[in-house]
Parts: sequence; C-alpha cells; structure tokens
Amino acid sequence: MKDAGVSLPLGLTRVAGHRGAKLRAPENTIVSFRAAKRLGAGWVELDAKLTRDGVPVVIHDQTLERTTDGAGRVESVTLKEIGWLDAGKWFAPEFAGEKVPTLADALKAIAAEGLGVNVEIKPCPGRERDTAEASIEVIREVWPGTLPPPIISSFQRASLEAAKKAAPELPRGLLLETREVDWRETAQRLGCKAIHPKWSELTAEWVQEIHKAGYACVTWTVNDPAAAKRLLGWGVDCIITDAPDLIVPVVS
Ligand code: G3P
Ligand code: MG
Repeated sequence: MKDAGVSLPLGLTRVAGHRGAKLRAPENTIVSFRAAKRLGAGWVELDAKLTRDGVPVVIHDQTLERTTDGAGRVESVTLKEIGWLDAGKWFAPEFAGEKVPTLADALKAIAAEGLGVNVEIKPCPGRERDTAEASIEVIREVWPGTLPPPIISSFQRASLEAAKKAAPELPRGLLLETREVDWRETAQRLGCKAIHPKWSELTAEWVQEIHKAGYACVTWTVNDPAAAKRLLGWGVDCIITDAPDLIVPVVS
C-alpha cells in the first residue's frame, strides 16, 4: 500500500478508484472494483446504504432507477429483492448480470484484489446511525487485518459520530462539499484522521492547513490529469478518480 518510495498516511495510495472505476465499468459493482485494480488504483471508494431489512449494500443513489433495472427506493426493497436486479446492463450490454453487491461481498472481492477501501456511509435519511453501525459490523466480520483498515467517510455527521462510538479504531474521514468555517472543530469532535474535500474547493493553502492540523487530505472526484498534477503538487495525499488510468500516469 505504498507508492514507490513514499509512505503515505493511513496506508493510502495516491490513486483511489471512485465507486470502483465509474467511467470504465458500472459503478459500485464487483467488476468495477476489479477494473480499478487493473487500471492501477491502490484503493477504491464505495457507497454503503441499507436495504429495508437492514443489510448494507453498495449503491450510490437513494433510488434504483439510474444504476439498476429496478425502480423505487433502496430503503423500500429487501436484500432478496435487490438481488433480483441487474446493475450492469444500464452501463453497457457486456456488463449484464452484474449485481448490487452486499457490502460484505464487495469487501471480500476488494480484499482479494489486495486493494484498500474507503467505505462512504451514504444513508437514506433517518438511517444515519444504523447504516454506520451495520457497515462496521460487516467490516469487522470480513475485512482482513493484513490490509490497511478501511477509512469510514461520510457527509453525515451523525454517521461519523456513530462510527466513532462503534469502532473508534477505524479511521474516519470528513467529507466536505465546501470549505466549512468550522471544519477543524468538526473533524476534531468526530475524531477524524482525514479530510475529504471536493477537489474544486481546494487551494494550496487549505492543503497545508489540513496537514498542519494533522489530517490526511483525500480529494474527490478528479478525472483531469492536469488538475491531478496540480493537486499532487500541493501535497494532496490521495486522489479519488472515476478513471484511474488517466490519473496514475501523473503520479510520480
Ligand atoms: O467519497 C467521495 C465521493 O464519493 C463523495 O460524493 O456523491 O460521489 O458519493 P459521491
Ligand atoms: Mg461516494
């Protein structure tokens, strides 16, 4: 989990695949995580939310329409029902048959590839704590101690609070859409180890401040090699990208 000659915080690598390799394969599917590895990523990011019966599955949207052949809300279907859906053919016909993975199956496949993982807790409204707690239970069951511990990130403070309580030992990352004035206080209160700012909000100064305050800087979602180069020049630790093949070449 090192780039050549560089030791990064939290066992990170410079390039993490967003939802696997979102531009190259159907997002948040096992084939997408494997594609990220093949394209040179050392980590992958995924989104976890709960089915109606409380099982963490890997899907980004609150509804099924965009990335499956189903319809309705993720929180309204059971694990059995979500298992009937196709999560690949919307992307391209050759991906027909891909499933919405359970978090457990996704983590097992990711670990088998030797990848690190950033589990973003993406709860349906009202399930902020449950989603974090159930995801942590799965991580504890399946994630091998030989790989760096998963980073638990979220935009939802309640999810990070629950993660802190349930698994203080797992590193937490604070996701930020904008530079919130109280980002330091929030990260400190939630015991975070990393700040995950949207890349277009970052400045060289902010990266320095993040490091000075003792946090790793993991930024998303960068698909432009020139932007990635600039961000790496500012000292960003890890870039989350939809296309690792575009970003890996600019990592020295
Ligand atoms: O974790 C980084 C990024 O995935 C956050 O936004 O909406 O793509 O989950 P989103
Ligand atoms: Mg995400």
